[in-house]
Amino acid sequence: SAPAETVTVHGDRPAPKFDKRIFGQFAEHLGTGIYGGIWVGKGSRIPNVDGYRRDVLEALKAIRVPVVRWPGGCFADEYHWREGIGAPSKRKVKINTNWGGVTEDNAVGTHEFMNYSEMLGAEPYVSGNVGNGTPSEMAEWVEYMTSPSGSSLARERAANGRKTPWALPMFGIGNELWGCGGNMRPEYAADVTRRYSTFIKMPEGQKVMKIASGANSEDYTWTDVMMREAARAFEGIGVHYYTIPYDWKHKGAATGFDEDQWARTLVKTTKMEELIARHAAIMDKYDPGKRVALLVDEWGTWYDQEPGSHPGFLYQQNSLRDALVASLNFDIFARHTDRLRGANVAQMVNVLQAMLLTDGNRMVRTPTYWVFDLYKDYQDGIVLPVEVQSRWYAKNQWVLKAVSASAVRGTDGVVHMGLTNVDPNQPATVSVKLEGVTGGAVGGRILTAAAMDAHNTFDTPNAVVPVAFTGAALAGGTLRVTLPPKSVVMLDIL
Ligand code: AHR
Repeated sequence: SAPAETVTVHGDRPAPKFDKRIFGQFAEHLGTGIYGGIWVGKGSRIPNVDGYRRDVLEALKAIRVPVVRWPGGCFADEYHWREGIGAPSKRKVKINTNWGGVTEDNAVGTHEFMNYSEMLGAEPYVSGNVGNGTPSEMAEWVEYMTSPSGSSLARERAANGRKTPWALPMFGIGNELWGCGGNMRPEYAADVTRRYSTFIKMPEGQKVMKIASGANSEDYTWTDVMMREAARAFEGIGVHYYTIPYDWKHKGAATGFDEDQWARTLVKTTKMEELIARHAAIMDKYDPGKRVALLVDEWGTWYDQEPGSHPGFLYQQNSLRDALVASLNFDIFARHTDRLRGANVAQMVNVLQAMLLTDGNRMVRTPTYWVFDLYKDYQDGIVLPVEVQSRWYAKNQWVLKAVSASAVRGTDGVVHMGLTNVDPNQPATVSVKLEGVTGGAVGGRILTAAAMDAHNTFDTPNAVVPVAFTGAALAGGTLRVTLPPKSVVMLDIL
């Protein structure tokens, strides 16, 4: 029978590249995101490289993490960098007032984070403290990290074990200044951003993208005021949007949900499209040349934390549903690469929509990890616009297109095409028209499972993993693809 769905790939209309920074991660001092997640300390029985857990390091390298944002989040606007340098035993022990009230011994500080970024081959995106720090504290931190030699701060860095400066390509001027970063009004935040930005100075020959604290989801006034009053002070501005099935009080469970929750979660994810479009349109008013980048520097699912887990640690399971949240977001991001040049999933390990979960010396890759793996060849590739004609998938009042797609000509010359079927019950038969794309062979991988909430546990770590996909056939410029229910497929067209 004739395919019900049609996807047209426009290889003849290349769009701006899918900046690799869109695959950014976020690692906050929150729960076991840092301690136990990436860092166990040199003396640990858990296999480690200079204190960094080896399994996590290797898993992250395999998905080519391009950017890590640190140290927060809310943590950033109470973080004093001097407390995290020098002999570990002499570092200040603080209370993590944002996340669970636990002690923070500053074992991971500037050196540990910046060195980790280098080990990963990722760009560090460091967020400064605007909330309760001073402009000079921020300026000195930047100097400490970047000054080649000569100054007292450069000498201090060398004495602490690092002679050559680190590269600092991205720097955040605070986080959520409308909330945990200081509860500011946008007019005040714009002035504060201008002030702090003034004193962030880079040594000759080094460049940093200064990123303003962006809006809370649909707070368009925030973006408007920041762009109108302060755009000259930054090269990027964020926006944060979390997928929450219900509301902040009762968010919904990470597993054990029904189809209504499946559908509402995916519909709420697609709100990202409208958010990016509307924030970008406001930016166009003040910056038609698109000098300033938009970065979704926090995104992901936020559920009720796992029963029995430490309050405030935001530890949640991650299922096939999260995998589809990720693939839908990547498709949306691909449609906005003229303005969207960065994103950071919240968060990298053990927190919210994590890539990896750890428990003692055990680690699992989540379904979300596998989507980052499937899509990794999008990094810095040229976006090829796609048009999707699809039937609707509906459950109760939750309605969205059954098929979502995006395509990129990778830096390897191969066309990579992500296809998602959100319908948990019906397969989708898709006819893919390739315009301006010549390809003779199609390979690919698929991520799916029998249950909507299928997930990987420490005992069954490979319940949801990609396998070779054999449901595509190419004939005369048209691809016939059969997507099983609730699946994510990545095709490579050679
Ligand atoms: O990612 C968890 C928290 O969510 C971050 O610290 C904060 O920026 C946001 O509200």
